[in-house]
Amino acid sequence: MRYFSIIDDAALRASAEALCAGELVAFPTETVYGLGADAFNALALAKVFEAKQRPRFDPLIIHIASLDSVERVADLSLLNAAARARFDTLAHALWPGPLTLILPKQSAVPELATSGLPTVALRFPQHDVALALIRAAGGAIAAPSANPFGYLSPTRAEHVREQLGEKVAVILDGGPCAIGVESSVLELVSDIPRILRPGGMSRERIEALIGAVELGAASTVTKPHSPGQLKSHYAPRTSLTLHTRAEMLELPWDSASAWLFFDGDTRNLWLNRCAINAGRDRIYTLSEHGNLAAAAAVLFETLYKIDHAGASVIHAQRVPSVGLGNAINDRLERASV
Ligand code: TXA
Ligand code: MG
Repeated sequence: MRYFSIIDDAALRASAEALCAGELVAFPTETVYGLGADAFNALALAKVFEAKQRPRFDPLIIHIASLDSVERVADLSLLNAAARARFDTLAHALWPGPLTLILPKQSAVPELATSGLPTVALRFPQHDVALALIRAAGGAIAAPSANPFGYLSPTRAEHVREQLGEKVAVILDGGPCAIGVESSVLELVSDIPRILRPGGMSRERIEALIGAVELGAASTVTKPHSPGQLKSHYAPRTSLTLHTRAEMLELPWDSASAWLFFDGDTRNLWLNRCAINAGRDRIYTLSEHGNLAAAAAVLFETLYKIDHAGASVIHAQRVPSVGLGNAINDRLERASV
């Protein structure tokens, strides 16, 4: 495995060569690290499933670096006029960005990428390294998050090295991911657009552009379901229980547990109530000032740290359910199953 912490032309060339040879390259995006393969090489796609130990029914996201590449992957002619208009609006306003769109699939895309579905997940990430890599590799990279199936998504290159290490040919270390939760997945093929996975792009921003959307399981068009919707997903190995702010404030401290607060105010109130002498190193705060974007950016890495700290249980505080808060609560709920 080759690890590049300086991403220059040589690093990009080595990565593009690996992708073209059917190997896997882990790369940063603005949401989480991706495990990339040539989107049109079925053998390379099979390696992704193998490396992640991912069930075959879980389709991949195809990443592009230009609107000109959309039609290589998605067949927009199969959308009705209303859906086509929504696509144009969203693609122009929100791409590049943390939004994945479910669209009719172009036949050239291997079935393995979409797990046999007639639809394909398409994303235009907002990250210089990701975009340079996609361009160097010919315009389309299939990539799930670079974690073993069901485990936390990596927001730092070290996470990828620890979790997948020798299963990848190259790791590009672009530093920590700015957003820290995966992209929002929006199904555009149904009559009413539907958020299949809340993520880095808020429902509010999407609705401001295209009107009301639903939240929930995939329509019958995208059978059987989007595995990002599996109840237990994105989970740390330590068991996690989720509490409202008020419930959290009532909990008595114990040294075997880890404590995950959203904000400094709540943590301080709680600390004042419990007289704690030792074990403060098991107390974590997502954002000192209660900022949702800051909290999302460190969510997975904090869970990752807690997982390595060996607590018996994690007590986590729900965050306000607005904007990115919905994606954070969604990940905490799945972690708690
Ligand atoms: O932010 C992200 O989206 C990251 C970075 C690397 O881009 N990628 C990511 O990929 O989170 P992954 O594979 O871990 O999650 C993709 C989600 C899964 O929940 C999958 O089931 C869903 O997208 N998905 C993919 N194709 C789909 C389709 N045709 N219909 C419905 N859901 C689909
Ligand atoms: Mg994933």
